[in-house]
Amino acid sequence: MTLTPRWRKVVLTLHVITSVGLLGADLVLLTLGAAGMAGFDPAVVYPATGLIGLVLFAPLALVMWVIGVVNAVGTKWGLIRYWWVAVKLVISTAFLLLVLIALRPLLLDALHLGADLPARQRASLLAAPIVSTTLLAFATIVSVFKPWGRRTAAA
Ligand code: HEM
Repeated sequence: MTLTPRWRKVVLTLHVITSVGLLGADLVLLTLGAAGMAGFDPAVVYPATGLIGLVLFAPLALVMWVIGVVNAVGTKWGLIRYWWVAVKLVISTAFLLLVLIALRPLLLDALHLGADLPARQRASLLAAPIVSTTLLAFATIVSVFKPWGRRTAAA
């Protein structure tokens, strides 16, 4: 399946909006995680974290993954033909699984417990976005520089 030039631009635009948008949403979670640890009102910070995480961040992570895959499969880049795409696929897949399996229960607790959220979970809500924003920033750099060449020989 190869996208026509017009569809390729549509899909690429959606891919940049969703992937870099996800990085933006992640930076908001990082800000809230830091605010919670810095002593801002936990009854405000943690429900907001849960809401943004569950309504915006987690669904966007799923949409971003799907559009990223379509973008790769539908163009000359392919899903695993080039190292830079394969590396992004691995990062994004691990990212999505962590968000859906590990982060989602934490976000539900943040939403419902608010000021009663235990200290260990508060620390996790700072640690997780530090790791994930670093991964997404790395994926953005890799996307622009497209390093490491082909993974498989040209057909
Ligand atoms: C499932 C994971 C992903 C796959 C398979 C994937 C695949 C691709 C492909 C094939 C392109 C080139 C499209 C074209 O030129 O038509 C592209 C571009 C791009 N990707 Fe991804 N991507 C993924 C995840 C990400 C992530 C996590 C980010 C950043 C947070 C990202 C940011 C970008 C950007 C900014 C471009 C535009 C680069 C340019 O046009 O020079 N992608 N991606």
